Amino acid sequence: MSDIITVIAPVNIAVIKYWGKRDEDLILPLNDSVSATLDTSIMCAKTSVCARADFKEDAIWLNGKKESFDSPRLQNCLGEIKLRAAAEKSVSEDFLQRKVHVCSENNFPTAAGLASSAAGYACLVTALAKLYKVKSDVSSIARLGSGSACRSVYGGFVRWHAGINPNGTDSVATQIVDSTHWPEMHALILVVGDTKKKTSSTVGMRIATQTSELLKHRVKYCVPERTEEIIQAIRQKDFPKFAEITMKDSNQFHAVALDSYPPCVYMTDVSHFIVDLIHKYNTASGSVKVAYTFDAGPNACLYLLKDEVPKVISLIKHVFPTSKPESFITGLSSGEEVLSPA
Ligand code: DP6
Repeated sequence: MSDIITVIAPVNIAVIKYWGKRDEDLILPLNDSVSATLDTSIMCAKTSVCARADFKEDAIWLNGKKESFDSPRLQNCLGEIKLRAAAEKSVSEDFLQRKVHVCSENNFPTAAGLASSAAGYACLVTALAKLYKVKSDVSSIARLGSGSACRSVYGGFVRWHAGINPNGTDSVATQIVDSTHWPEMHALILVVGDTKKKTSSTVGMRIATQTSELLKHRVKYCVPERTEEIIQAIRQKDFPKFAEITMKDSNQFHAVALDSYPPCVYMTDVSHFIVDLIHKYNTASGSVKVAYTFDAGPNACLYLLKDEVPKVISLIKHVFPTSKPESFITGLSSGEEVLSPA
């Protein structure tokens, strides 16, 4: 018998978006990004891993379906974990030679721009790190699976530093504050569609990096200032400032997607309706009470403080009386959880 390690990992939703790579193989971003890690009770990935001498091949099942282990991203994650384990001498040579089986599932619409790859790879890498008893920071290994995954390794608010080293050693995630810092902060996810996105993040970023002039401007002039400002707003629990930067950054990311050639369109009429609704709600409230942000898909993530939650849920029910978007409300998470430690 051999130990099975099971880990659950949270999704994270960026408030300063990562969009564009300086190195596609190592998944090194053009700019820093900032996100909140959401509570695992509503949306999470769950992964079990096991290495045994009698396994014939590395194998992976995603949501119950066997998938190929040949993807370079998977291979890079497993390879890097084994290299670290060898360097740290954390397991025997015999254990390193064994094949590994991975079983992963998540409980939310995949490929609909809901950060499923972030939770999935953070979970996989954390589980493998436990299996191979790797002690060093694993955010840079999760990054090799999917860039945004490196932020799901930590709870609370997290910054992914773009770094400048060509080998990516300084492109790691660090925690800004933990989940207890701003307990009133909540996220309301509005699922307006769960169809697979037309252009994957990876392809969308590639086109933007090659063709968008606006992306160059964003990386050089907008993101550095916004990143410092939003971190200060988070530390000071300044919701209106936090919300304004979050919305502006989401809008600019989608403007970059449209500035790409050919353009990438991720938001739908319903997404734009929600944007309009939130601005009207904030105006009627006399101050900024809710922020929206959209990843590479039509679904909205609203950030809001706890007091505002019942009012905003009523509003959503009121304006979408027949075709309500499915909604999930959640607080922030303290990070991944190991369900069966070795
Ligand atoms: C819009 O991390 O999915 O959600 O690194 O190519 O796997 P790859 O991309 P991915 O991109 C996420 C982009 C985003 C913004 C963000 O999460 O920062």
